[in-house]
Amino acid sequence: MVFEQVATGGCQSYLVGCEQSCGAVLIDPELSQIDHYLGLAARHGVRIRYLIDTHTHADHFSATRELARQLKVPVVMHRASPAPFVDMRLADGEMLVLGKLRLSVLHTPGHTADSMCLQVEDRLFTGDTLLIGATGRTDLPSGDPEALYDSLFNRLLRLEPALKVCPAHDYKGRTHSTIGDELATNPRLQKRERAEFVEMMRSLNLTMPTHVTEALRTNMSGGKTVARLLAEAGATVPFMALAELKARVEAGEDDLIVLDVRERDAYEAGHVPGARLLPRGQLELRVNQDLPDPTRRILSCCELGYISTLAAATLRDMGFLHAVALDGGMKAWREAGYPLKAGKEP
Ligand SMILES: [Fe+2]
Repeated sequence: MVFEQVATGGCQSYLVGCEQSCGAVLIDPELSQIDHYLGLAARHGVRIRYLIDTHTHADHFSATRELARQLKVPVVMHRASPAPFVDMRLADGEMLVLGKLRLSVLHTPGHTADSMCLQVEDRLFTGDTLLIGATGRTDLPSGDPEALYDSLFNRLLRLEPALKVCPAHDYKGRTHSTIGDELATNPRLQKRERAEFVEMMRSLNLTMPTHVTEALRTNMSGGKTVARLLAEAGATVPFMALAELKARVEAGEDDLIVLDVRERDAYEAGHVPGARLLPRGQLELRVNQDLPDPTRRILSCCELGYISTLAAATLRDMGFLHAVALDGGMKAWREAGYPLKAGKEP
């Protein structure tokens, strides 16, 4: 069996494959590791056939949708998943067959209603239902401590003690454990009475994961994260360094239109000498009037360098093939002590 575990911070993803059939599945992939997974699959000589999320993640950005687009293979989740882009919805007791490998589904709600575990040979991919020395939390949307109790004590913990536990998270660099180890040492599993366990889960008082709103929005809809939107725009535009722009401004070069896409008050408080004002919100509707020559070289700038990247990408989309963005923004420009002009547009 091909087996690779990839950690991204505390998130764990797994590439599991069958050497005979050269097919593999990717379990709980994370958006920033796409090229890493593809590289691993290539190194093992396997093709990824299924992209599996063990549940709706609230703490990281799933790569299943993007990889499905690239590889043209199905996104697989439990049938209770709310995500509309899931291609194959599995139920308890069903299996995915991959050459000689059998991946069996156990529906284990509790951390979320759509949580499932997958058993493959001697390993159990437990998602966030059972972690090493912990369990998934039950205070996020669709979490339910009563259901988690049943999923743990009446399902997972009754499995073979030697079964390896491969969780979707571990923050301490551990790779796996076993059902037997967890039963013996996991502090959350020592309260074996339902009421005690439920009470303990209800009183954990955990801090919210960072990016929870954005993770749920993107993982449930298949929409893009802000970082991805910016990365996609950034991949379509060239940039110019702050020092390069300063040298051009000081040399009085006039072949470059510096377009400040911030709001008027920010522009008037201090802008690159010679810069024109065209706020990002008005860009598309004012280009014909303000930038009649699409062959001109245009450099967009904003406060931090993010909005100007989107603006330059929009300009390129609209046919301004020489649009570039400033690498950095006016905040960095000011901090560098570069020349500024205050007041209205000339
Ligand atoms: Fe989770």
